[in-house]
Amino acid sequence: MNILVMGGGGREHALAWAIKQNPKCDRLIVAPGNAGIAQIAECADIDINSRSAVAEFCEENAVDFVVIGPEAPLAAGVADALRNAGILCFGPSAAAALLEASKAFTKDICDACAAPTAAWARFDQANVAKAYIRAQGAPIVVKADGLAAGKGVVVAETVADACAAVDEMFAGAFGAAGAEVVIEEFMPGDEASFFVLVDGTDVLPIGTAQDHKRVGEGDTGPNTGGMGAYSPAPVLTAALQAQVLERIVKPTMAEMVRRGSPYQGVLYAGLMIHDGQARLVEYNVRFGDPEAQVLMMRLGAQVLDLLLACAEGRLAEVAVNWADDHAMTVVMAARGYPGDYAKGSEIRGLDGLPADSWQMVFHAGTRAQGGQVLADGGRVLNVTARAETLDQARARAYALAERIDWPEGFYRRDIGWRAQSPSGDTAQEE
Ligand code: AMP
Ligand code: GLY
Repeated sequence: MNILVMGGGGREHALAWAIKQNPKCDRLIVAPGNAGIAQIAECADIDINSRSAVAEFCEENAVDFVVIGPEAPLAAGVADALRNAGILCFGPSAAAALLEASKAFTKDICDACAAPTAAWARFDQANVAKAYIRAQGAPIVVKADGLAAGKGVVVAETVADACAAVDEMFAGAFGAAGAEVVIEEFMPGDEASFFVLVDGTDVLPIGTAQDHKRVGEGDTGPNTGGMGAYSPAPVLTAALQAQVLERIVKPTMAEMVRRGSPYQGVLYAGLMIHDGQARLVEYNVRFGDPEAQVLMMRLGAQVLDLLLACAEGRLAEVAVNWADDHAMTVVMAARGYPGDYAKGSEIRGLDGLPADSWQMVFHAGTRAQGGQVLADGGRVLNVTARAETLDQARARAYALAERIDWPEGFYRRDIGWRAQSPSGDTAQEE
């Protein structure tokens, strides 16, 4: 079959890499792709947020199946346009993508189905929001309602910081995303991510992960899109996963059906675990990046069968084949990220590296030019490895990273530290 993957980051490189290994995949196109993706697939330069451009491209190229990576095309209704055109597509409708595109929408749904989450209130006026903050006290969390490329959340330590965040959001720091602000109770605990496929009615768990959002070692410094991740996440025990499915994920999905917007695609539940109880932090309507890189490394070629079953409403018929393994990815970023950074430096040493089901360097922000690979973004490479234990996966990933010659880049040396027990062993869950 002819398959189109939409996106051009490390998540899409990992998705394309896994899909390509499945014998059902004949022709693989990725739009827009990057230098690493170009080595395994055709890259197409189309406007992936344009419903008509994507649908026309699929018709002209006899595309049988589309996998949408990022949230922007989902929120723009590209999955709806494809399904209207009779093209099989993995990813939720624009109406269902509101679970990521509007924080107030998600909180309403949680209230309607009694899913545990932080206490909250919504505001469209700064003075009312600030009065609420003063009444609640700090720490407290201020969020722009809409999509803000992962940056519209301020975890404020003081009332003054929270009020400043409210002013900034209403002053337009996040554009239309900040026209409404959600203020939430601060939840302490350990954060973890749970990924499930949903075909409208049935729900199939496909893995857990934890990422490291801060730029600095020891989880310090500014937030980023993610500096590394590992799977499984030992904190999400089998019992907790069952609790999250029964109390959070399934009730949410049933509420979406009740509202006439059944969910189809991957649902990424961001959770806070405290005292043996999980509460929802947020939903995303896509795979995490870099969490997808570790999930794809662990799932391999079966991913295509799972995504197809999801898109065709056949999840009840399939199961995940788990290996007893761990995967870890280390993000190599351009110096200066998540602040200002330069593009265009050359990355050497990629050619001779091993590339197999135990280790892969996925490309995020790269482009090819005259036989060279150049850095073309903030997060640039995802050095990913799989092994029987997390310690072995970590050793393998860092050994691979050391072979990459890119003086303009940097990476954290401590990815995975939170999953570590004093003995160096990690719990095996799943
Ligand atoms: P979000 O974009 O909603 O995932 O928020 C970004 C990050 O802010 C999350 O990954 C958490 O680390 C943190 N965060 C968001 N909401 C809360 C909350 N209610 N309590 C504590 N931390 C939060
Ligand atoms: N790594 C976090 C995210 O993809 O939202």
